[in-house]
Amino acid sequence: MTRADAPAKMILFGEHAVVYGRPAIALPLPDLRASAAVEPNTRGEAGQIELISPVTATDIWLHEAPSNHPLAAITKNTLTRIERTAPVPLRITVDSTIPLGAGLGSGAAVSVAMSRAIGRYFGLDLEPETLSSLAYEVEIIHHGSPSGIDNTVIAYEKPVFFIRGKTLELFSLDKPISVVLAHSGQVTPTATAVRKVRDLHERKPEFTEACLDEIADLTHRAYKALRGGKLDQLGEWMNRNHTLLQSLGVSTPALDNLVEIAVSAGARGAKLSGAGLGGCMISLVEPGTREAVFQALLEAGASQLCQVEVQV
Ligand code: PMV
Repeated sequence: MTRADAPAKMILFGEHAVVYGRPAIALPLPDLRASAAVEPNTRGEAGQIELISPVTATDIWLHEAPSNHPLAAITKNTLTRIERTAPVPLRITVDSTIPLGAGLGSGAAVSVAMSRAIGRYFGLDLEPETLSSLAYEVEIIHHGSPSGIDNTVIAYEKPVFFIRGKTLELFSLDKPISVVLAHSGQVTPTATAVRKVRDLHERKPEFTEACLDEIADLTHRAYKALRGGKLDQLGEWMNRNHTLLQSLGVSTPALDNLVEIAVSAGARGAKLSGAGLGGCMISLVEPGTREAVFQALLEAGASQLCQVEVQV
């Protein structure tokens, strides 16, 4: 059996603004992962591949799947890119500990894990750049015109300062970052949130541009601070980024409530992460406040709580 995996990610600053050419910062979350296993199948014929995902109750054959099925698309595109066909019937099984629809990049992580595993099965160690571009093609199926930040941070598994269409800036954190994440319990497609911001941009271009510019300013400041290990103001900037995302119309009362609970319990700052209209809230904590923030969110009934230490 050939296995490979890929991490989840969180956007620390700049979601939505990144769609409009502003920078964003995303970090890999190495403790949450998607995995894929490729092995010979006892059923089927040479060239046929069965795709199984227990998490989404999927069991389909590649040759019968619609071309826009994400698991089929990544398999087909990877085989085309590496110019290989299955010599014997194969089975690819996907698994993941990444909450679905949480803004944590579960789709891109599954794509990268699958491509990497397929490459390995054929004796190839696919480069992050190749994995990222293959995953991007599937991101297009998920949500139309993605910025590409998810597939990038996940394929490289490094913090990234990302500007759409510009040279990639990978960096390392000078100091580890401790985060408590909580799911709002709501799931909305990324495309819906992106469309909502687009509508606002059409109706109120000046207002929207001003919000996007301020988010860009926070992202630049945060990038400098993260690389220099000066994290004192990071939380404050996260709070402001959240307020600006509220202004863009992509927060919800549930997300606002989680932000407020985390900050009241001692988090340095908190914001929604990802497309919003549901999904996750991330809060910046320290060793001394982590437990109190976690408990406060737990008592408030937050779902899928987790603590992550990012040191990459
Ligand atoms: O929820 P996610 O992880 O798919 O976040 C998408 C981030 C956006 O900036 C809203 C969209 C994009 O394509 O970058």
